[in-house]
Amino acid sequence: MNQDQLKQAVAQAAVDHILPRLDSKSVIGVGTGSTANFFIDALAKHRMEFDGAVASSEATAARLKGHGIPVYDLNTVSELEFYVDGADESDEHLHLIKGGGAALTREKIVAAVARTFICIADASKLVPVLGTFPLPVEVIPMARSHVARELVKLGGDPVYREGVLTDNGNIILDVHNMSIVDPVKLEADINAIVGVVTNGLFAARPADLLLLGTAEGVKRISR
Ligand code: 5RP
Repeated sequence: MNQDQLKQAVAQAAVDHILPRLDSKSVIGVGTGSTANFFIDALAKHRMEFDGAVASSEATAARLKGHGIPVYDLNTVSELEFYVDGADESDEHLHLIKGGGAALTREKIVAAVARTFICIADASKLVPVLGTFPLPVEVIPMARSHVARELVKLGGDPVYREGVLTDNGNIILDVHNMSIVDPVKLEADINAIVGVVTNGLFAARPADLLLLGTAEGVKRISR
């Protein structure tokens, strides 16, 4: 199986997991990226079995609408049972690095509201220690240099992601060579820098269930 087939398999596994738990009033939180796109495509086949979705990015909203799935503003939704999204890395505790697609802030907001966060990823994303993937940090544009200097003090090498503006109109710094021994503390420390909107560590609110696509089939890892 190639990487796309593994992503497709976990996307289908996520649909299979949530479908029996949905009803006609259910609204589903949907993430961003290629794995999330496979999830949207699989979910669309069951369009009549739920109400609609909340999107974590403009790109996801467009794809959902393209399938005829209603997209709701998160502020109008009182309950979100599931949030389904990919990741750039996960450790065995389901602490994640996300934001490769620059959607980390809206992803973190939707994940915070959802009761159950299901992460879907191919096997290459499971790592013993987070940090090989550069950690994305969303930053208010005028704070770019200040935040970069503070990230260097925390031991990282921030690199400006050229040509990228987030859906919120901000920039991304990708932090290389960060030693992430305590993801919960580092998430809080980076978020405390003035000018940071949020960072791509999902550790204070990790995933609840990781569906991992492997050559031997989809593995389930729960917290
Ligand atoms: C977007 C993300 C994605 O979930 C992450 O980049 C994984 O993407 P893909 O499913 O394409 O491998 O965090 O901001």
